[in-house]
Amino acid sequence: MKVGNKHYRSIWLEDEGHKVAVIDQTLLPFRFEIRQLTSSDEAVAAIRDMVVRGAPLIGATASCGLMLATLQDPSDTYLKQAAEQLLVARPTAVNLRWALDRMLPELLTANESDRFATARHLAQSICDEDVHINSTLGDHGLGVFQDILKTRPDSQVLNVLTHCNAGWLATVDWGTALAPIFKGHDQGMNIHVWVDETRPRNQGASLTAWELQAHGIPHTVIADNAGGHLMQHQQVDVCIVGSDRTTRSGDVCNKIGTYLKALAAHDNGVPFYAALPSSTIDWTIRDGLVEIPIESRPGTEVTHITGVDRDDQLTRVRLTPEGSPAANPAFDVTPRHYVSGIITERGVSSASEKALLELYPEHADS
Ligand code: MRU
Repeated sequence: MKVGNKHYRSIWLEDEGHKVAVIDQTLLPFRFEIRQLTSSDEAVAAIRDMVVRGAPLIGATASCGLMLATLQDPSDTYLKQAAEQLLVARPTAVNLRWALDRMLPELLTANESDRFATARHLAQSICDEDVHINSTLGDHGLGVFQDILKTRPDSQVLNVLTHCNAGWLATVDWGTALAPIFKGHDQGMNIHVWVDETRPRNQGASLTAWELQAHGIPHTVIADNAGGHLMQHQQVDVCIVGSDRTTRSGDVCNKIGTYLKALAAHDNGVPFYAALPSSTIDWTIRDGLVEIPIESRPGTEVTHITGVDRDDQLTRVRLTPEGSPAANPAFDVTPRHYVSGIITERGVSSASEKALLELYPEHADS
């Protein structure tokens, strides 16, 4: 997507793969700065500290981190250790494991002298494929929007509600939940987006709003608590979110607060979709509530907030009484019966194992 007049991906290789460039998402929407990663340790830190975030981008960053590890020391021992450190950088987004599982076995079978070239090829392929996959799932999502509009012939505008940031910054490009929004807008569809601010890290207010504004898409940032009220008053036509891990049975784990939106959508007959690349499906599990590890992040993300002051200086302030404890579970699970459909690169499926396997039959025995 474009920033100013220049097209950017959220991550790219520089210096023939000796460096990896990322957009520092901790500074948006206030500053647009590029950071360079030069070691797997720096990739671990970028994932852990949310310089990069969003399940597909976390996977792509892990693949680049493993590539950087092959430059530092291509031995089996070092690469296995680097992969282990990358794997635990964030626990919920399964794309991290997916990317490492795809790369590590192939690297370990290559000659040590070839490992960097092999890793660079694989990391670049993972990034390029992510772009193509998200573009394709965006086309399928746009079909969903068009079908919803057909049921509302009098409607002048499609009102979409989204939670967290599942736009191009959360992937390598296009995004998941936002891909059909970008595509619909580009094709002349009249779309307005309700953007959940998404406390505590404010990915909606900071990142989704920034992306939509840059693309000229009408949007309104709302407090996380406002969605249910808007749905009760017919101001939301469809909810669409991304996912960090979806079970083979269709339970959708996503940013904390997603479940409450799904409940409100269900109560008000508003369709609720999750858009995700198949690398986000964890084919090894069925019960999202029991089997998905939910990341617990520092309470300071709840008690403190960062913004700019009147002199445009980045400032962090405390919101709570000093000493009040805070809990910060980062994700929740929306059970499949609240999900109207799962939008993937192979098409739209209902949220059930049978339907997902019809799209991905190769996983029947995984
Ligand atoms: O904690 P984050 O910002 O990494 O969480 C991101 C989300 O929950 C996104 O909605 C999800 O990864 C889908 S992104 C395409």
